[in-house]
Amino acid sequence: MSAPVRDVAEIEIDSALRPQRFTEYVGQEHIKTNLRVAIAAAKTRTETLEHVLLSGPPGLGKTTLALLMAREMGVPLRISSGPALTRTGDLAALLSTLESGDLLFIDEIHRLPRTVEEMLYPVMEDFRLDLVVGKGPGARSLRLDVPRFTLIGATTRSGSISSPLRDRFGHAHRLEYYSPEEIEQIILRSAGLLGVKLEDQARMDLSTRSRGVPRVANRLLKRVRDLSQVRRTPVIGSSLVEEALTMLEIDAEGLNAMDRKILKLVVEQFDGGPVGISTIAAAISEDPETIEGIYEPFLIQKGLLARTRQGRVVTDQGYAHLKQKRKGRLV
Ligand SMILES: Nc1ncnc2c1ncn2[C@@H]1O[C@H](COP(=O)(O)OP(=O)(O)O)[C@@H](O)[C@H]1O
Ligand SMILES: [Mg+2]
Repeated sequence: MSAPVRDVAEIEIDSALRPQRFTEYVGQEHIKTNLRVAIAAAKTRTETLEHVLLSGPPGLGKTTLALLMAREMGVPLRISSGPALTRTGDLAALLSTLESGDLLFIDEIHRLPRTVEEMLYPVMEDFRLDLVVGKGPGARSLRLDVPRFTLIGATTRSGSISSPLRDRFGHAHRLEYYSPEEIEQIILRSAGLLGVKLEDQARMDLSTRSRGVPRVANRLLKRVRDLSQVRRTPVIGSSLVEEALTMLEIDAEGLNAMDRKILKLVVEQFDGGPVGISTIAAAISEDPETIEGIYEPFLIQKGLLARTRQGRVVTDQGYAHLKQKRKGRLV
């Protein structure tokens, strides 16, 4: 599942608020530095940049980084995705449009079909495309040269990237959740762009409830802005943030209805676990990939859920958050 909770309005907000240069891109200092050095070095050697793999949960800024890299390199970013490249012919067609030095972004690269992925290996390594033309005994293979380009792969599931694919990236970076201070900085910038006035406390409250994800921060900011327009409050304070987030069923820790549903399920039906991710997914009719990619990392980061060899367990903190007591505990 790529983006289960995104709509057109949200995609528009994404592009309106997207940083236009590296200096506007908050946080992920280590990755920014590495990429800028690599870009500068490639530029001075007039070589193409080595392939880059960006991994991390949705909304942390992978696509934005790819766009910034293209800008810094002064080349357009060609965009495709794993699920869009269903056949080897799709990849061949895409590659045939590339020019030397281009940046090709493949989002959700872990979802490339096996045959397409295998075709990509010699392309990434030797810029050589091996095609099989025709069928049966008449089939022959055709070898084509591909211009030297840089592949930027993005994935929300670095664990599902096969090692032959991973090994072909010269740079691999994992994006981390943002600190509350970094999220505040992002909210400040977005508020400026949207023309929203926020009190300091309101900004802090929004930040702590954004789960360390810039996209979530921007989305919440927009919802708060909507409410402030309806209420005709020119400057947004804490109470308005509280009201808007309550309407969105987002609690004080930033958990949404689905996060709580997952915790409650494990507590109430599985005695706090351990329980497998597919069992959780089936019980709440969600896709296991979505749970693993979006909800679980946040719950784990918050210390409410833990991953053990036997499955997922709700921690003492998780119980405390739900205001529930663990059953069958000898005190
Ligand atoms: N480091 C950052 N600084 C400021 N805004 C950011 C940052 N990272 C992401 N954003 C905001 O969050 C939105 C989502 O980022 P995006 O790059 O689309 O995430 P991903 O591709 O990882 O899902 C962007 O449109 C941008 O407005
Ligand atoms: Mg993206």
